[in-house]
Amino acid sequence: MSKKITLAVLLSGSGTNLQAIINSINNGKLQADIKIVISNNKNAFGLERAKQCGLKNLCIDDQAFKDRETYDKKLIQIISKENVDFIVLAGFMRILGSNFVKRFPNKILNIHPSLLPKYPGLNTHRKVLDNKDKEHGVTVHLVDEGLDSGPIIGFMKLDVSEGENESELESRIHKLEHFIYPKILSQLQEGRVLIDDSKIKIDEIFYENGKEYFN
Ligand code: GRF
Repeated sequence: MSKKITLAVLLSGSGTNLQAIINSINNGKLQADIKIVISNNKNAFGLERAKQCGLKNLCIDDQAFKDRETYDKKLIQIISKENVDFIVLAGFMRILGSNFVKRFPNKILNIHPSLLPKYPGLNTHRKVLDNKDKEHGVTVHLVDEGLDSGPIIGFMKLDVSEGENESELESRIHKLEHFIYPKILSQLQEGRVLIDDSKIKIDEIFYENGKEYFN
């Protein structure tokens, strides 16, 4: 059995994805240790979840920093000390600058509520409904310097139901997120996902854009 992976989780809000990762660890499905949970927002409920689970947690309030570079420098300093295998963005509502991304190559993961490369950025459920898309989904990808644009590790799709509203869609998307994020972390822990530049190798097969995986 491969050794546990260590994680830093960064969030800004409710932290349901953090909770899904914690639950997977607690029920033995994911062999990982969360070394630290960091939020840029002191009111993030995700920090409370971390506290309740006895995890080290910290708010680095972005309001207190003059620019992105200084903020990212502080983040780098704190995360470097934890020496983690992966930095897991779980609803972290800040773009990480190039210094940060370069400091942790192939180690930063993000989950995004759309079938990337469609709909990077905010309000993805609204956009899906406005455009009358038939399908929607979630994507887990490596973070590069663009907005939701790094190499895709995996995705899951759902069919948009007739008459479905934004909050119903959001809640179904959340269920997919809570399944796929711990699952991919577990595959990384088992050494089944190999990351080589922009190529992702899963179970001995190379996928350059996530197609065929979790389809
Ligand atoms: C999720 O929808 C995730 O895809 C996006 O931010 C949201 C975070 O939700 N990046 P939560 O805080 O984990 O509940």
